[in-house]
Amino acid sequence: MKKQRNILFVFMVICFVMLAVSAQAQKAGKKLNPNLNQSVGDLSSVKAIVIDRGLTADGKKCIDCHQKNHPGVINDWKNSRHGHVGVSCIDCHGVKKEDPTASQCEGLKGTDIFESVLVPPSRCAQCHVKEAEQFNKSGNFRAYHQIIPKDNLHALVQVHEGQNHPTLKNASNETGCMQCHGTKIELGKDGKPTAETWPNAGMGNIYPDGSTGNCSACHTRHKFDVAEARKPHACASCHLGPDHPDIEIFENSKHGHVYNTDGDNWTWTSSPDAWEPGDYRGPTCATCHMSGIGKLKTTHDITERLYWNLWAQKSQVRNSEDVMSPVLGNGIEGRQKMEQVCSSCHSELHTKGFFKQGDKAVQLYNVAYYDPAKKMYDELASKNLLKKNPWTDEFQKVFYYLWHHEGRRARQGAMMGGPDYAHWHGFFELQQDLYKLQEIYAKRLKAGKIEE
Ligand code: HEC
Ligand code: HEC
Ligand code: HEC
Ligand code: HEC
Ligand code: HEC
Ligand code: HEC
Ligand code: HEC
Ligand code: HEC
Repeated sequence: MKKQRNILFVFMVICFVMLAVSAQAQKAGKKLNPNLNQSVGDLSSVKAIVIDRGLTADGKKCIDCHQKNHPGVINDWKNSRHGHVGVSCIDCHGVKKEDPTASQCEGLKGTDIFESVLVPPSRCAQCHVKEAEQFNKSGNFRAYHQIIPKDNLHALVQVHEGQNHPTLKNASNETGCMQCHGTKIELGKDGKPTAETWPNAGMGNIYPDGSTGNCSACHTRHKFDVAEARKPHACASCHLGPDHPDIEIFENSKHGHVYNTDGDNWTWTSSPDAWEPGDYRGPTCATCHMSGIGKLKTTHDITERLYWNLWAQKSQVRNSEDVMSPVLGNGIEGRQKMEQVCSSCHSELHTKGFFKQGDKAVQLYNVAYYDPAKKMYDELASKNLLKKNPWTDEFQKVFYYLWHHEGRRARQGAMMGGPDYAHWHGFFELQQDLYKLQEIYAKRLKAGKIEE
């Protein structure tokens, strides 16, 4: 009896909600998008944008024609939330005639519509205000800005990697650093981006309108998919390799084990702040660094949950609001937030114990490896016993590997539960580096000169 009454009640509630929604739609004078019966997220914004906007005749034209030229683009778009809610080509690519990036593609010649192939984050921010604000406070924001003033990095790329070649010296930047960090996008006379600066998948691009970032770094165009960004491989295209092997560390961790063996069965599409354990059994990069979980809110500030600074020569606790500062963030609060992530699946005893182990490893690196290596470095520098070209000097090369490669691997491996990176690719190699530095140092001091 009681069960039947419950079912009747649920049925009545559903009918009521359906009536209310269709009344709203009629008030706005348009039909509801038939695709909206899936997870719709924030209904208030869907209402404002879909029902009041719809696709204009000009908007439809872009799609009809581009279907022939770029079926790949149209296909991604039509399977996206944007396709579902009627955010179309013109909403992202349409610009005013006066815009320095304005041009007219074949289909627009003779009309008063202008497009730009560039879609700066300021454009996404017109509808996604919060995400852009959070991005602008995060470490990802400075990905390119921080490189601009560093002469030693420009020298590495142009003088050494580029061999000072008159026309080709920037090739390694364009195909390397820039594709992860971004660059300042320059325009040619035709208002289109130059080949020296675009195409470019980098995180910290500076667009011609001055806005910074690359929203498709994690959810790629033209699907702009939340599910994609939640998977570890959305970060892996940049967070890999000898100096920040975060995807390798993840694979090596028990969390990677759980994801790799079971992730195909998880639910990836829940709306933000409602994607919770149960949808998944183990955390991905996004779960720990970005997603809402328990009482913790979703954030696009990937610095918000960090305690240490693990990429620096020597790790310090984060303590600055300046987005250009190496210690950007509030380490104490960051640690509390990260512990909150763990608390949905682990006991407090487990979490506190894990961070005790990890913090000890970071401190060991700081005091037993970085400090003594830096002391030798400074002494050799003061006695003129370092070569001018650091990349031909054995001492300086090993010093660089110690902090930039091995030292980062040890610290990030320890803090994210990747034992192979904490140990074999980390501390094991660190002790080898340190002994090598001590040997070269002793030789140079004794001889009073740099060995041949
Ligand atoms: C939500 C915003 C958004 C919408 C909607 C959108 N685009 Fe894009 N599009 C982008 C972004 C971002 C890029 C990358 C541009 C950059 O590097 O600044 C891009 C790039 C492109 C490119 C160049 C891609 C390449 O690989 O050469 C084409 C062509 C394009 N879009 C066409 C379209 C068409 C046609 C539509 C409509 C079906 C559309 N776009 C809808 C955001 C959008
Ligand atoms: C009648 C066909 C047609 C129509 C209509 C059309 N386009 Fe295009 N568009 C093209 C062709 C062809 C290209 C060049 C394709 C290429 O280079 O691969 C192009 C290129 C583009 C590019 C790449 C930018 C560049 O500078 O090369 C963008 C962005 C774009 N169109 C956006 C739009 C938008 C937005 C609309 C609607 C307001 C639109 N197009 C309407 C045919 C059309
Ligand atoms: C004209 C407004 C508008 C613009 C411009 C716009 N979006 Fe959206 N976006 C929306 C709406 C509306 C939704 C659907 C919200 C919902 O499902 O509740 C959405 C959804 C999304 C989602 C969630 C997709 C999912 O799988 O749930 C992402 C990610 C996203 N947009 C990224 C972007 C990016 C990146 C840009 C710029 C390249 C951009 N948007 C530009 C209006 C816009
Ligand atoms: C397009 C490349 C790219 C992708 C994709 C990417 N990152 Fe990053 N990330 C960077 C770069 C570059 C930096 C370094 C920023 C700087 O210069 O300080 C960075 C820095 C970070 C930092 C450190 C921030 C700080 O304040 O020190 C974290 C944490 C991070 N990323 C997490 C992620 C996560 C999680 C994902 C996937 C959801 C991701 N990243 C995807 C390029 C990327
Ligand atoms: C495969 C992608 C990738 C490439 C290529 C790359 N980086 Fe990075 N870089 C990153 C990521 C990811 C981080 C963040 C590491 C972390 O948070 O631990 C980073 C961190 C840095 C940092 C420290 C962050 C800061 O704010 O000071 C500097 C400096 C840097 N990179 C410069 C460069 C330069 C210069 C080049 C080219 C010579 C380059 N990177 C090539 C991905 C890349
Ligand atoms: C470092 C990777 C990364 C970058 C860069 C990034 N996003 Fe996201 N984005 C994510 C992840 C991960 C989620 C899903 C969070 C979760 O689990 O709920 C997400 C979710 C979203 C959503 C869905 C939120 C909702 O309420 O439906 C929107 C909209 C969005 N991003 C827009 C943007 C915009 C705009 C930018 C550029 C300013 C951007 N993203 C840059 C990783 C990224
Ligand atoms: C179980 C949660 C968890 C997962 C999963 C995870 N991380 Fe982390 N990550 C952490 C913790 C904890 C730290 C260290 C934070 C601290 O105490 O400073 C960290 C540190 C980092 C840093 C170093 C930032 C710096 O200061 O140099 C980067 C970069 C990063 N993570 C990226 C990623 C990427 C990319 C993935 C996926 C391939 C990932 N993380 C997966 C928890 C996680
Ligand atoms: C969504 C649930 C979930 C979250 C969130 C989560 N973990 Fe886990 N974690 C797991 C699962 C499942 C395992 C595998 C347990 C096993 O080996 O039987 C695991 C294993 C581990 C292990 C390996 C040791 C062991 O007990 O198996 C460590 C260490 C760990 N997690 C630390 C953390 C930390 C630190 C955080 C927060 C930064 C965190 N986890 C967040 C689910 C989670």
